[in-house]
Amino acid sequence: MKAVRVTAYGGPEVLKVEEIERPKAGPGELLVHVRAAGVNPVDWKIRQGLLKGMTPQPPFTLGYDIAGTVESLGEGVTDFKVGDEVYAYLALTKGGGYAQYVAVPAKEAAKKPKADFAEAAAVPLAGLTAWQALFTQASLKDGQTVLIHGAAGGVGHFAVQFAKSKGATVIATASSSNHEFLKKLGADIVIDYTKEKFEDVLKAKNIQADVVLDTIGADTHDRSYAVLKKGGTLVSIVQPPKADKMKEFGVNAKVFLLMPNGPQLAEIARLIDAGKVSPHVSTELPLEEAAKAHELSQTGKTRGKIVLEVK
Ligand SMILES: NC(=O)c1ccc[n+]([C@@H]2O[C@H](COP(=O)([O-])OP(=O)(O)OC[C@H]3O[C@@H](n4cnc5c(N)ncnc54)[C@H](OP(=O)(O)O)[C@@H]3O)[C@@H](O)[C@H]2O)c1
Repeated sequence: MKAVRVTAYGGPEVLKVEEIERPKAGPGELLVHVRAAGVNPVDWKIRQGLLKGMTPQPPFTLGYDIAGTVESLGEGVTDFKVGDEVYAYLALTKGGGYAQYVAVPAKEAAKKPKADFAEAAAVPLAGLTAWQALFTQASLKDGQTVLIHGAAGGVGHFAVQFAKSKGATVIATASSSNHEFLKKLGADIVIDYTKEKFEDVLKAKNIQADVVLDTIGADTHDRSYAVLKKGGTLVSIVQPPKADKMKEFGVNAKVFLLMPNGPQLAEIARLIDAGKVSPHVSTELPLEEAAKAHELSQTGKTRGKIVLEVK
């Protein structure tokens, strides 16, 4: 089968299309015929060798988001059948999604939403991250207020929609060119982080947030403690919390790494099928153009998601 392999750590040029042996479904696994693979910033970070301790050594097949059809079932799998259309987030320790076939633990997969394969492949990593940040880590509730940084990106655009579907008030940061997009997704207030400070806008409107989702880090992270209510929660997906700031502002802060989770993907699929959440695919490229997809992702300007079409 065809796969895009990281042949050595480095720039986009280390990605090579190679013929490798098709995997088999082991016990408890599905062999999935991949139709689309999502691209995430972690893909190019891994390609560069920034997560060496967690990932296989080159050569290995990149890719952590897939949507496709079940080709065969491993021993003991009862929840799926051959031909089911599924989607999954593949653990960073394994990957293998930039390929025509991949073996996936059945408990980490779910029936895909009725959206097309590209839209489905846009969901798992970013969608699970947004879900786990808002609901597992921060316990966001109906009627609360959440500030979402990087709202137009992969994680952010799902977080805006999940928070709205939960009944929260959503404040989003993005550059002006993404404001209409975010309002359509349900953001109540949109702040252009290139022109004004989010903390000034919230202060002027007399708003204190229950939850902040930090997808940016650095200065954005440091300035976020001050906009929270006492006892509020800052969830970062990019850097550890700062104990001195937690103490100073009387807030909670945490960092986490998403985990594969089939049942949560099934819940997200239900929201998509109910029309409450729409994955946004801004760019679709053939698998063979994975290097170009990485170059685009590395600009940090992606609206929604980049997806590779697998034939
Ligand atoms: N810990 C975890 O489990 C986990 C999981 C997923 C992702 N991550 C990490 O989280 C980060 C975000 O992931 P992603 O997939 O959402 O990335 P992404 O899709 O590449 O995000 C791109 C978006 O970031 C926005 N942006 C850039 N700088 C900004 C700023 N200062 N303020 C507000 N928005 C800004 C851009 O909006 P504009 O064009 O409007 O500027 C663009 O829409 C990455 O570093 C990723 O590796 C961690």
